[in-house]
Amino acid sequence: MYLGLEKGVALVTAASRGIGRATAERLALEGMTVVAAARTVGTDVEDLGDGRIVPFEADLSDTEATAALVASVVEMHGSLDVAILNTPGPVIKPALDLTWTEWQAAHDLLLRPVIQLGTAAGRQMRRQGSGSIVLLSSTWVRQPAAGGVLSTSYRSAASAFVKSLAGELAASGVRVNQLLTGATGTDRMQGIVEMKSRNNGTTVEQEIEKVVTDIPMGRWAEASEIADAVAFLASERASFVTGSALVADGGAVRAAH
Ligand SMILES: NC(=O)c1ccc[n+]([C@@H]2O[C@H](COP(=O)([O-])OP(=O)(O)OC[C@H]3O[C@@H](n4cnc5c(N)ncnc54)[C@H](OP(=O)(O)O)[C@@H]3O)[C@@H](O)[C@H]2O)c1
Repeated sequence: MYLGLEKGVALVTAASRGIGRATAERLALEGMTVVAAARTVGTDVEDLGDGRIVPFEADLSDTEATAALVASVVEMHGSLDVAILNTPGPVIKPALDLTWTEWQAAHDLLLRPVIQLGTAAGRQMRRQGSGSIVLLSSTWVRQPAAGGVLSTSYRSAASAFVKSLAGELAASGVRVNQLLTGATGTDRMQGIVEMKSRNNGTTVEQEIEKVVTDIPMGRWAEASEIADAVAFLASERASFVTGSALVADGGAVRAAH
C-alpha cells in the first residue's frame, strides 16, 4: 500500500529498541527522514530503503531536553511531518504496593513527555498546515490488567490529552490518533515475563503461556506489526482518521467497541 510518506520528516521517541525502533525503521523504509530519539543511540545515520534514521540523544526524563526536542528536529531538517509519541513503560506493581516516588517517576516518563511533545509538535504542524501525530499507547487504557495501574492511569490521561489535541488541530489539517498496543515481543516484555517467573516461582515459558492464552490469535505481536499499524495512522491512507484509537492486540480486548 502506498502511504505517501516519502521525503517527510518524522520524530520517534524512545526509539532505540522495541516498538519505537521498529516504527522508526518502518517510516524510514517509506522514505522518511526519521529522527530516532533515545538515551543510548549511536552517532551514525543509517540509510534504510529510500529513507534514513538519524540518531538523537534525548532523555525523556529531562524536562528541558524534552521541551527542546521538536524545535531541534525542525532546525535540523526544516519541518516535522510525523510525530510518534512513544515513552518507556513504567514499573509493573499493584496500586497498593506503589510508593509516591514511583507514581511521580511514572508521571514524569509516561504523561509529562507526551504533553510536552504533543504541544510542541501540534504548534509546529499548525504553522505548517499539515502533519500527523500518533500516540503509542496501550490496551491497558481500555482493559486494565493486574500490576498495570501506572500505565492505565497515566496513559488514560495521555489519551484524553491527544483526543483534545485532535479536536483543536483538525481544522488546521493536522491529524492526531492513538495506537493501543497489545502484548508485543520486545525487551520490555521479556523483562516482564522474567520478573513474573521469579515472583511466581514458575518458568518463563509458563509466564509466556499465561500472556498468550489471553490473546485469541494465540500469540503476541512482533514489534514490526505494531509499526505497520502506526505507519498507517501516520500516513495519507488515514486522511479522514483523527481523534481515534486503533487497537492492535490480536483480539485481546474483550469490549465490543
Ligand atoms: N511490549 C509490550 O507488550 C507493550 C504493550 C503495550 C504497551 N507497551 C508500551 O510501549 C512502550 C514501548 O515498549 P517496548 O516494549 O518497545 O519497550 P522497550 O523494548 O523496553 O524499549 C523502550 C525504549 O524506551 C527508551 N527509553 C527508556 N528510557 C528512556 C528515557 N528516559 N528517555 C528516552 N528514551 C527512553 C529505550 O531506549 P534507551 O534505553 O536507549 O533510552 C528504548 O528505546 C512502553 O511505554 C511500553 O509500556 C508495550
